Amino acid sequence: MSIPLSGPDITRKEIAYVNSVLTKSGGILSIGPWLEKFEDAFRTFTGRKYAVAVNSGTSALFLLANAVGWKDGDRIVTSPYSFIASANTPLFVGAVPKFVDIDLKTYNMDIEKAGRAALSEDVKGIIAVDVFGHPLNISAIKRKLKGKPITIIEDSCEALGSEFNGRKCGTLALAGTYAFYPNKQITTGEGGIIVTDNKKIYEYCISARSQGRAITGLWLEHERLGYNFRMSELNAALGVAQMERLDEILEKRNRAAGRYYELLRGTRGITLPHISPDVNFMSWFVFVVRISKYDNEFAEFKEYDIIPNNKRNKFGKLLRKTNNLRSSLLNELLNKGIGCKPYFTPIHLQKFYKRMFGYKIGDFPVTEYVGSGTLAIPFFTNITLKQQKQVAKIIRDFFN
Ligand SMILES: Cc1ncc(COP(=O)(O)O)c(C=O)c1O
Repeated sequence: MSIPLSGPDITRKEIAYVNSVLTKSGGILSIGPWLEKFEDAFRTFTGRKYAVAVNSGTSALFLLANAVGWKDGDRIVTSPYSFIASANTPLFVGAVPKFVDIDLKTYNMDIEKAGRAALSEDVKGIIAVDVFGHPLNISAIKRKLKGKPITIIEDSCEALGSEFNGRKCGTLALAGTYAFYPNKQITTGEGGIIVTDNKKIYEYCISARSQGRAITGLWLEHERLGYNFRMSELNAALGVAQMERLDEILEKRNRAAGRYYELLRGTRGITLPHISPDVNFMSWFVFVVRISKYDNEFAEFKEYDIIPNNKRNKFGKLLRKTNNLRSSLLNELLNKGIGCKPYFTPIHLQKFYKRMFGYKIGDFPVTEYVGSGTLAIPFFTNITLKQQKQVAKIIRDFFN
């Protein structure tokens, strides 16, 4: 029986709400009550004053980069181990990402390195990514800034519902974003949202998402450069149903993750996701296992910020060896009908980043080592114990 990598959890409620947009809204398919309800749900859930829904998480990040005034020449500290949109965000507005390496356990930016990088003169901001839903310790980074005013925005696109030291991801900085592609905790088909307490950011985002219209102005009056990043009523209605079921969804995902820990614990050759003690609640986006068979060999390289030239060959070999083992596991799973994917390829090694900035292997050792060995296995809200047993058995047999 084949098992998909991910998939949305759609019930009768979602179908009824979307249906009602089509049949009972009097043709209001955009800019209507469902959008307001969806934004309301986010204000309530996050406790933030403002929420602006848009057509993707990328649009949400793009609007925020504009809203906070990042521009040509600015450098923005962020992670090279993320979905590409977080690193692209500075580029959208002429700024440049300043990558810092990650932590081998959480896969989030290394706190020391992020703090140090943020103190460089040209750094104007930080995009704090909660990778795979694991909260980044933003307060710890802030403590490293020695009072330097830096704009931090939180990319919590993978972390809806995660909580760190009693606070929800997405509310730990000036503004936060969530995303709703169908593999996310909740989906709107496509979609994203910005949450903030900052009125200026809110007013800019509301206007810019809809062609730069004034909030209270006429339809064909435009007071700034704007875009069409609106979320339709169909998407918003789907989102409202999902938000009403959020607790149930997160709880089911939590249980599913727990079952993987039970089933895979002790498997030689892989490491399961690490959850820091300060995490009060982990909202599971994906379940990523990492090839850790060669961690002893990696120890030699861990101390370097950048791998020295005379060690690059050896380091490259280690990456290839790890990657090869992951590929074999990946193929084993795929051949048996199990959906899985390498997650993530380091952003600085993506073709266009290498072309634009000249990055090469060895520039961010932890990211590259983690990126050569991480693998997302099937994970979705209604995955069954039977399916998880099937996945776990293949993985365990592979390493035995
Ligand atoms: C960390 C992160 N940032 C941004 C995005 C962008 O969201 P979207 O795909 O909705 O544009 C995603 C989506 O996968 C993400 O995982």
